[in-house]
Amino acid sequence: MVKKDQVMVVTIDGPAGAGKSTIAKKLAKVLGVSYLDTGAMYRALTLKAMREDVNMESEDDLIALAKRTTIDIESLDSGVKVLLDGEDVSQDIRTVEVTNNTFYVARAAGVRSIMVEWQREMGLRKSVVIEGRDVGTVVFPKATRKYYLDADVEERAKRRYDELIAKGEEVDLKDVLSDVKVRDEKDFTRKVGPLKKAKDAVVIDSTKMTIDEVVEEMKNRI
Ligand code: DC
Repeated sequence: MVKKDQVMVVTIDGPAGAGKSTIAKKLAKVLGVSYLDTGAMYRALTLKAMREDVNMESEDDLIALAKRTTIDIESLDSGVKVLLDGEDVSQDIRTVEVTNNTFYVARAAGVRSIMVEWQREMGLRKSVVIEGRDVGTVVFPKATRKYYLDADVEERAKRRYDELIAKGEEVDLKDVLSDVKVRDEKDFTRKVGPLKKAKDAVVIDSTKMTIDEVVEEMKNRI
């Protein structure tokens, strides 16, 4: 039971396409707390690195970039507004190019510690549902409630494919599946902040569940 004056932190980790963003957003709304999409921060820094032609193989260059960058995430009813040095990049960070390049930023240990610090700052101010890959294991190991949201890889690829088609992109399901598998491999094998289930996380497999069923189940366990 969370006391009235206590800050509540609910973490949701899981692989790409498991439904984390949609579910975290809804759960935050149901609970009346903020929502923090940590992936958006990795995406925003990647976008800046791409725009400035930073050598993404160089951890030092990425750290220097992170140090001269401000990323703000505002939670809106419709989702999140991502501000990169004050500029609204909410749409620009969702392209396939950014998605495929985020692993450079995500594997850089020095960049991750900066990100983790930012996320803790945001999370400690007010109650929040926070989603990502390492939020229950690294960012908030003492979270009020931790979830690990999973789904079969074929189902995750199908969801991502439907999303891209809805956005008007021309993609092939086979290519999307192979991209999801590549991202899984990078997420699970990264030396720092890899995706893994926290020992005390409640595991939910969303393969055969609707969004509302998952949200309901999560809400009931808090
Ligand atoms: O959840 P997403 O697809 O928007 O995340 C984008 C990338 O950021 C993903 O490939 C892995 C990385 N990421 C991370 O390393 N740690 C997090 N807490 C969140 C995302």
